[in-house]
Amino acid sequence: MRVIDIIEKKRDGGELTREEIIFFVEGFTNGEIADYQAAAWAMAVLLNGMTPGETTELTLAMAESGDVIDLSQVVPIAVDKHSTGGVGDKTTLVVGPLVAASGLPVGKMSGHGLGFSGGTLDKMESIPGFRTDLSTQEFIEQLRSTGLVLTGQSVDLAPADGKLYALRDVTGTVPSIPLIASSIMSKKIAAGAHAIVLDVKVGVGAFMRNLENAQELAEMMVSIAKQAGRRAVAILSDMNQPLGYAVGNALEVREAIETMQGLGPPDFTEHCLEIASHMLHLGQLAKDEGEGRKIAKNALDSGRALDYFRMLVQSQGGDGSVVDRLDRLPQAKYQETISASHDGYLQGIHARKIGEAAVKLGAGRSKKGESIDHSVGIIVHHKVGNWVEAGEPLFTIHASKEPLLNSAIKEVLAAHTFSDDKVDPLPLVYGIVK
Ligand code: URA
Repeated sequence: MRVIDIIEKKRDGGELTREEIIFFVEGFTNGEIADYQAAAWAMAVLLNGMTPGETTELTLAMAESGDVIDLSQVVPIAVDKHSTGGVGDKTTLVVGPLVAASGLPVGKMSGHGLGFSGGTLDKMESIPGFRTDLSTQEFIEQLRSTGLVLTGQSVDLAPADGKLYALRDVTGTVPSIPLIASSIMSKKIAAGAHAIVLDVKVGVGAFMRNLENAQELAEMMVSIAKQAGRRAVAILSDMNQPLGYAVGNALEVREAIETMQGLGPPDFTEHCLEIASHMLHLGQLAKDEGEGRKIAKNALDSGRALDYFRMLVQSQGGDGSVVDRLDRLPQAKYQETISASHDGYLQGIHARKIGEAAVKLGAGRSKKGESIDHSVGIIVHHKVGNWVEAGEPLFTIHASKEPLLNSAIKEVLAAHTFSDDKVDPLPLVYGIVK
């Protein structure tokens, strides 16, 4: 087999066989296929697409390019969740404890944020002492003994994807639905998931800006899961405005804890119950989502989810007292609240602009490996559709440096738009793909 033939076949719109895909992935991973050839291949895929069968083969080949964790001896069903990323998306912090407290073990490997989209590990690392570098053995032992673990990738999962993603990033080949779907699903499969709830974000603050593309990505990922013998459901959820009110690492941890205390923003609480109900259904603890929701609501209302969160923090070396003493989370030096200058209906809070403003404050990175400031961020005080009176608080900036505070105020103000006419609230969920 020759790589040039595989590239040309894809360029001319042909369908690659399983053997050709395995040959390509193995060759690229071990360095026998050069980056320029892989880049040409990725562009051919971007332009001509892939069939569901090809996408599944690519996913499995990438999953098998490194370690594959087997959790079948550890838990009866390993249920995972994955969000395609957004602004203020702290769902894992609540859903992990919620589902584990309901009796379904959750072992989650998460990532750091990149660009305007936040990352679960950065949020958890705001808690003093919390470790996100558990070894695979520690991951498995904690999952077995406590039913809840949340860490970074400990082993070399799907190295072919890591290499291909880095190449796509610099060759204009990221926005290909089959390549995104196989990239996400290869990591989920390698991490041992038997069932996966996919939270596919749609809107200006998401990878997928429109519903049509999000639906296609969701359908493709669910189809890959099925063909690979896994169960999956995808929830198409809004990312036009930030989820909840808080954006920024320690601020989001605080909001997640408040949510587990029953004091969270209504949209975020509802979103967590939605994701948890699907996880409980896929994990066969509930006969349907309705029952899953009741079980999850009970874990939330009884305070058990919060107990599980405290236990998670302590099991991984963190200061569990933050749960009761939120003032122990990092606090920014400057905190300034800006009020509305006139009355009106809130028409938009541009999620990406808010995310970018948070990154500039130091909450995120513009390059991999940069250090971040856990204390800074933005609290928006309203949701789209709210009537806001002049003089009411609109948002609060948490900053460590005064010049950054001043530029964030301008940027966050510009992310808010108003209307004199009534504005409908944004839907939380646009659809579900099973
Ligand atoms: N996230 C991934 O893991 N891979 C992609 O290709 C895009 C988003």
